[in-house]
Amino acid sequence: MNTRVFLALGCLAATFLFLTCRRAEEPQVVTKAPPPPFELNPPRGLEEVPVPPDNPMTAEKVALGKQLYFDKRLSADGTVACADCHSPQFAFTDGNPVSAGIRGQKGGRSAPTVINRAYGKSQFWDGRAATLEQQALGPIQNPIEMGHTLEGMVRGIQGIEVYRAQLQKVFGSLTAENVAKAIAAYERTVLSGNAPIDRFNLGDENALSESAKRGVELFGGKARCGVCHTGPNFTDELFHNLGVGMNRKDPDLGRYAVTKEESDRGKFKTPTLREIVATAPYMHDGSQRTLQEVVDFYDKGGEKNAYLDKDIKPLGLTRRDKQDLIEFLKALSGEGWQTEPPKLP
Ligand code: HEC
Ligand code: HEC
Repeated sequence: MNTRVFLALGCLAATFLFLTCRRAEEPQVVTKAPPPPFELNPPRGLEEVPVPPDNPMTAEKVALGKQLYFDKRLSADGTVACADCHSPQFAFTDGNPVSAGIRGQKGGRSAPTVINRAYGKSQFWDGRAATLEQQALGPIQNPIEMGHTLEGMVRGIQGIEVYRAQLQKVFGSLTAENVAKAIAAYERTVLSGNAPIDRFNLGDENALSESAKRGVELFGGKARCGVCHTGPNFTDELFHNLGVGMNRKDPDLGRYAVTKEESDRGKFKTPTLREIVATAPYMHDGSQRTLQEVVDFYDKGGEKNAYLDKDIKPLGLTRRDKQDLIEFLKALSGEGWQTEPPKLP
C-alpha cells in the first residue's frame, strides 16, 4: 500500500473514532420540535393567503395575536382595544360613521373592516402602511385612538407575566415589532368566503335568488362596479376619487397626503365588498348610511369635482336594477371570520 493512501486511511479512521467518541460523550441533545404551524384554510372563493417570510404563521403566535388584538391594556389608559373599533359584532368594523378612541375622541375617518385585509396590497384608506405588521403600530401611537407610546405599551405588556412568557416563547423577545407581528398573524386568519356568490361561482345555480343573479350581471355590466371592485376580494386595491366628502369646506384629500401627486386628490382605496351588509355606515367618512344610499350615489355619477374618476358617471339604473344590485351585495356575506373574544391573561 502506498504511504499516502495509508496515511489518508489512518486519518479517516482517527476522525471516525474521534467523532464516535465525541458523540458518546456529548449529552443527549433534545432537539426542540418546531412550533406547530397554523393551517390557514381560506374558505371557498378565496385565494391562498400571502404570508411574509419573516412572520410565519404558528398556532401559538395566532393565539397570542388574538389576545393582544382584544386587549384594552395596549392603550394608554387601558380603555380601547383594536377590537373596539374593529369588532366581530360588526364584521370587524364599529358600526359608527367615525370611530371613538381613548377619552371618546373622534377622528375623521370610518373604521374599515379587518376582514380579508390579509390580501391587501397596502393598508389604511390612503394606503400609507405597506403591511399589516406596519399598520398595527399606527393606532397604538395615534393620540386619538389608543394614545400610547410604543415603549409604554411594551412596558405594560412586560408587567403581564403570561404575555411576557408567551412573547419570549414565540419570538424570543418582547419588542413592539413582535407585538405587531403577532397581531398581524392573527389578522391573517380573519377571512370571509364561502358566501352565496362563491357557491354560485362554483356552479351552484340555486345559491342566488333571481334578483341577485340579475345583480351579478349589473355589477359587471351596466352598473360598472366590477371595474374597481374586482377579483375574489372585490377590490383592485387601487385608489379612486368618487367625490365622497369633496363638497366639504376642508375635504380629506386621501391618497394625496401620502404621494403629494396632484392627480391623487380625493382618492381613497377601493374597499372589499365582502360582508358589506354588516359594515354600515359606508365610505371613508361614514357619510352614507345604507346600501340604497350608496347605489343612489353611484347612479347619479358620484360627487362632481375636478378629480372625479373617469369610471364614475351617471348610470341610468332603474328601481329594479338598484334592488337587484343590493340583493347581489347581500350575497357577499360568508363565513370564516365569526369569533368570540379570547380569554385574556
Ligand atoms: C379608535 C378606533 C380604532 C382603533 C382602536 C384601532 N383602529 Fe384600526 N382603524 C381605525 C380607522 C378609523 C382606520 C382608518 C384610518 C385611515 O385609513 O386613515 C383604521 C384602519 C385599520 C386597518 C386598515 C384597513 C384597510 O382597509 O386598509 C387595519 C388593518 C386596522 N385598522 C387594524 C387595527 C389594529 C390591529 C388595531 C389595534 C392595534 C387597530 N386597528 C386599532 C380605527 C381604529
Ligand atoms: C372607480 C372605481 C369604483 C367603481 C366603479 C365603484 N366603486 Fe365602490 N368604491 C370605490 C372606492 C374608491 C370606494 C371608497 C370611496 C371613499 O370612501 O371615498 C368605494 C366604496 C364602496 C362602498 C362602501 C364600502 C365601505 O366599506 O364603506 C360600497 C358599498 C361600494 N363601493 C359599492 C359599489 C357598487 C355597488 C358599485 C357599482 C354601482 C361601485 N361600488 C362602483 C371604487 C369604486
